[in-house]
Amino acid sequence: MAKRGSTYVCQSCGHEALAWSGRCAGCGEWNTLVETAPAGAPRGKRGGSRSRGPAAKPVPLRDVAMPEVERLRTGVAELDRVLGGGLVPGSLVLLGGEPGIGKSTLTGMALGNLLASGAKVLYASGEESAAQVRLRAERLGTAALGVPAVAETSLEAVLATLEAERPQACVIDSVQTLHAEGMSGAPGSVGQVREAATAVMEAAKRLDCAVVLVGHVTKDGAVAGPRVLEHLVDCVLFFEGERERHFRTLRALKNRFGATSEVGVFEMRAGGLVEVEDASARFVADASSAPGSVVLASMEGTRPLLVEVQALVAPTEIVPPRRIATGIDRNRLAMVIAVLARHGGPSLAGADVFVNVAGGVRVDEPGADLAVALALASAHRGEAVRDADGRPAACFGEIGLTGELRGVAHADRRVAEASKFGLAPVLGPAAGEGLTGLATAATLRDALRAVKARAKLSKMPRAA
Ligand code: TYD
Ligand code: MG
Repeated sequence: MAKRGSTYVCQSCGHEALAWSGRCAGCGEWNTLVETAPAGAPRGKRGGSRSRGPAAKPVPLRDVAMPEVERLRTGVAELDRVLGGGLVPGSLVLLGGEPGIGKSTLTGMALGNLLASGAKVLYASGEESAAQVRLRAERLGTAALGVPAVAETSLEAVLATLEAERPQACVIDSVQTLHAEGMSGAPGSVGQVREAATAVMEAAKRLDCAVVLVGHVTKDGAVAGPRVLEHLVDCVLFFEGERERHFRTLRALKNRFGATSEVGVFEMRAGGLVEVEDASARFVADASSAPGSVVLASMEGTRPLLVEVQALVAPTEIVPPRRIATGIDRNRLAMVIAVLARHGGPSLAGADVFVNVAGGVRVDEPGADLAVALALASAHRGEAVRDADGRPAACFGEIGLTGELRGVAHADRRVAEASKFGLAPVLGPAAGEGLTGLATAATLRDALRAVKARAKLSKMPRAA
């Protein structure tokens, strides 16, 4: 039963209802009703004119006072970089990710470092008991063991603790476990989560405390929770990777105080998360250079990253055949398969197709198209993509629907990164012409031809 006073507001049309129902009576949309707490201030009469407050005086932006904010450096370099230089006091950061990915580990490490650097911190855990939090901290070292922690699921208690302790940085793990007293609904329901986040944000701004809200998201982001908070918070970080693998990437989906293009790469070890500074070296060293494997010169934010794209093509009787993509977008895979069939590549209509970005990394950029296409063609032919010296070949580029190869951002940095690891020349779109170490192709057909020619070269016996 709803508690007295709260209403259910449709998130798509604004219709208000007194009880929850699956379908909005106003617009007919499903699952759009969200419990909303009654506003504290009495409202004006319906339809009556609004009372007028004093007028605000607009100020030209150049005259707006801009106080220098000292950021709180978490000491986890990759996290600081993704945040745009550290936590901003009074800001609210949402850290999303699947369960078990390492959110508590990351925030525990950050608070430990902040504490060691003299900041006042607080860890509020609703998910685990204090003893469980301690168990993790023991793995993370002495700094993390000094972090003051409370195990609390009541929103009111957490707010009161914030008020009493006045930390400079606080982690609430997780927002789904917080329960606001004034509202019905289980912890983790959209209404509860939104209510909790709004109250925490108000406290964060007032107390000038940087708060990191941890939130669970499933793969499709469908579970009630963090997604509804994205517009509310200052910064949304997403921690992802395959739980069974070592590598994790941290990216900013939204950041009011920095760029959203930055990505941090971590590795989960026995003693916590370790920053991977030279990720390219790892991935290239692991690249198999067998048929079906291609090195992609990708960009992770502003940083070039070499990753291995692997493909397997296997004949099948199943209709429709399987298309399984790990680490790349499934729709882009379907598009690449279609373009290959029409523009000089093999038809994969009767084959199961598996594409995987090795190491559990996710590449979300159109520049991966060419690598996927070449890996598929190579897997289909059973011929490795190598350069004249037998090393794995690197490439990048977006594939258009008419089979053309389109330019992508930062061609120079991609080529430079590949050259650093001896993988030049890199096969890429003609838009980056003039770069040393770049072999250009105008179309997918040209690129496939170039790869075939190279394969022939590498098979020829060398003159001594
Ligand atoms: P955790 O931070 O609890 O994940 P989340 O808060 O996102 O649910 O940790 C996830 C996994 O990491 C857990 O299964 C154990 C593992 N782990 C390590 O491998 N090394 C470590 O030092 C720690 C603390 C955890
Ligand atoms: Mg956790």
